[in-house]
Amino acid sequence: MIEISNLGKQYASGFVALDNISLSVKKGEILALLGPNGAGKTTLISSVCGIVNPTSGSVTVGGFDIIKDYRKTRSLIGLVPQELTTDAFETPWDNLTFSRGLFGLPKNPQVVEKVLKDLSLWDKKDDRIMTLSGGMKRRLLIAKALVHEPQVLFLDEPTAGVDVALRQDMWRMVDELRNQGVTIVLTTHYIEEAEAIADRIGVISGGKLLLVEDKGTLMARMGQKQLKVELMDTLEALPKVLEKQGFCLADDGLSVVYHYDKDAEEIDIGGLLQAVTSAGLGVKDIHTQQSSLEEIFVDLVEDAA
Ligand SMILES: Nc1ncnc2c1ncn2[C@@H]1O[C@H](COP(=O)(O)OP(=O)(O)O)[C@@H](O)[C@H]1O
Ligand SMILES: [Mg+2]
Repeated sequence: MIEISNLGKQYASGFVALDNISLSVKKGEILALLGPNGAGKTTLISSVCGIVNPTSGSVTVGGFDIIKDYRKTRSLIGLVPQELTTDAFETPWDNLTFSRGLFGLPKNPQVVEKVLKDLSLWDKKDDRIMTLSGGMKRRLLIAKALVHEPQVLFLDEPTAGVDVALRQDMWRMVDELRNQGVTIVLTTHYIEEAEAIADRIGVISGGKLLLVEDKGTLMARMGQKQLKVELMDTLEALPKVLEKQGFCLADDGLSVVYHYDKDAEEIDIGGLLQAVTSAGLGVKDIHTQQSSLEEIFVDLVEDAA
């Protein structure tokens, strides 16, 4: 659905914001682009949407070239921009009706009604936009991106600074759109967001795409597991024998932790536990858990820097 080949963007200042990015996104897929501020996420999305002119490379959307067939690709795309931009004096109803018209589509009050209802804006449809709260304005921006029934939706940091209710509505909406076959690319620096809704995850930093991978594969490949042994009493210092075994002490002194590769050869949990008790420590509880995407992400971006 989206094919990005060797895309580069150098701003007039000489700054290279995108460095040779290649990426393809399948129909109906949800791709999350994770990256710190200034990574180039907005520049990448803006290039695909025709708002920023790339300096090299090419992009197709639905098989159409974003420069040669700009009108076609733009009509396939819905964009929810990072910055809030709304018209003050119009009403949501007029705003959405007009937006649809901009794409040359016939009037369709049912679609406008559905979009307004989906985003809980129905009772505000005739209010002036300037009287809406920040969260409602953001809902309206989403409505505006959806009212021409796009096949591809770009959400640029959709949940930055929004309340919990809107975040959950957004996740629900993304899920529903995916079920309708809409392809979704979202940028975020909230890792739990990518973890919660994406099928694939791309990590971008310093204008480079560090990796793109299926979420499950990424977590399985890079993730580690840990065995956490909760202790009966607080421990001041880790006994030498346990240190030699590869344990470390949790900051609060209330547990000792052993990290191991998820795919590593079998580990001897019984033996590890025995080492803890032989060191004279009382065991209160044990847990194993997998390292989160957050830990993986921080490692990646640090390694690239
Ligand atoms: N119009 C511009 N002129 C020069 N530099 C820009 C311009 N727009 C963005 N940049 C720079 O490009 C880099 C990437 O920006 P951006 O794509 O907005 O990152 P992100 O969305 O990941 O936070 C940043 O260092 C930013 O300062
Ligand atoms: Mg941005």
